[in-house]
Amino acid sequence: MVRGVRIAGVGSYAPERILSNEDLAQLVNTNDEWITSRTGMKRRHIAAADQATSDLAIEAGRRALARAGLSACEIDAFVVATVTPDYPFPATACLVANGLGAPGKAAFDIGIACSGFVYGLTVASGLVRSGVFRRVMLIGAEALSKITNYTDRSTCVLFGDGAGAVILEASEQNCFLGTSLGADGSKPEVLFQPAGGSRMPASTQTIEENLHSIHMSGKEVFKFAVSKMVDSALTALGEASLSPDDMTYLIPHQANLRIIDSVTKYLKVPAEKVVVNIQEYGNTSSASIPLALAELDASGKLKEGDVIVFVAFGGGLSWGAVAWRWAA
Ligand code: ACO
Repeated sequence: MVRGVRIAGVGSYAPERILSNEDLAQLVNTNDEWITSRTGMKRRHIAAADQATSDLAIEAGRRALARAGLSACEIDAFVVATVTPDYPFPATACLVANGLGAPGKAAFDIGIACSGFVYGLTVASGLVRSGVFRRVMLIGAEALSKITNYTDRSTCVLFGDGAGAVILEASEQNCFLGTSLGADGSKPEVLFQPAGGSRMPASTQTIEENLHSIHMSGKEVFKFAVSKMVDSALTALGEASLSPDDMTYLIPHQANLRIIDSVTKYLKVPAEKVVVNIQEYGNTSSASIPLALAELDASGKLKEGDVIVFVAFGGGLSWGAVAWRWAA
């Protein structure tokens, strides 16, 4: 049985505490002009000491439920895309289902860094379309500040915390138009958290050498990001025999404004079709796309039939895009 899937509700949450470019200039040798011109970022939201990823995800999930007019017990499965789980195990999704008041439901995490939301959208839509579940809540949630080294100016200016949730629901209409996912694991060290896994378990040395934080070769990531985002967006649209001209909105992963501008240029998309909120949140990895979608939804601009392309890249290296038709 193959049926349709739609998004029944969107919600997001970002912690209250703000870390501005000026704040960062107090921590490392940087300044507002460098950060703004190289990344487009102005502020990031930072989780409180007692806030973990599941806390952000639960609040985003609550808001998505309210927007959809549903209760948590009407959701059949919970999927959390994150690289900053509360614990290596159990899955953060288990804690989220419990926190939302739906214990006993299926729950699992997806760990593919910043591509997590587009991978999750593909997987969760597949579960609904194949009839396995009627409703799936997908949440992109990150507390990246917990794995950011605030003495390394080349990474600490980039990352922030937040969560965005969508509720996917079986429908007569099919909003899932096409997908394109990929990964290349030949150079994991281009963007990774070196220690704490089975290759380099935690030790006093890994802590002393700050190996539990994000390590990145920014230039290498930048180079691959643009071409992979362009290719995957075109392939996802092509699956539905659509072209960039048919797109109402492009919602790219918010990693760097210059990357977004290049992708926009290659796809020849007018700036007003591109959803950008990087100035407010920085890079929130798998949360960035649903955070931007929630803002677009709240703006009241989304209309029945709008074609949205979600496109991302990140650690893996990984990349992907989903073409989606909005149904109110
Ligand atoms: N403030 C001031 N100067 C800085 C800073 C800073 N915060 N960071 C680096 N610099 C300096 C460097 O030391 C270097 O100085 P030097 O020339 O004297 O050596 C100079 O600025 C240029 O550094 P570059 O790294 O060449 O700067 P670049 O223009 O490439 O911008 C950036 C760096 C913003 C990181 C960019 O490469 C980028 O955005 N790359 C993609 C990153 C990304 O998208 N990551 C995704 C992560 S998603 C995930 O999966 C978690």
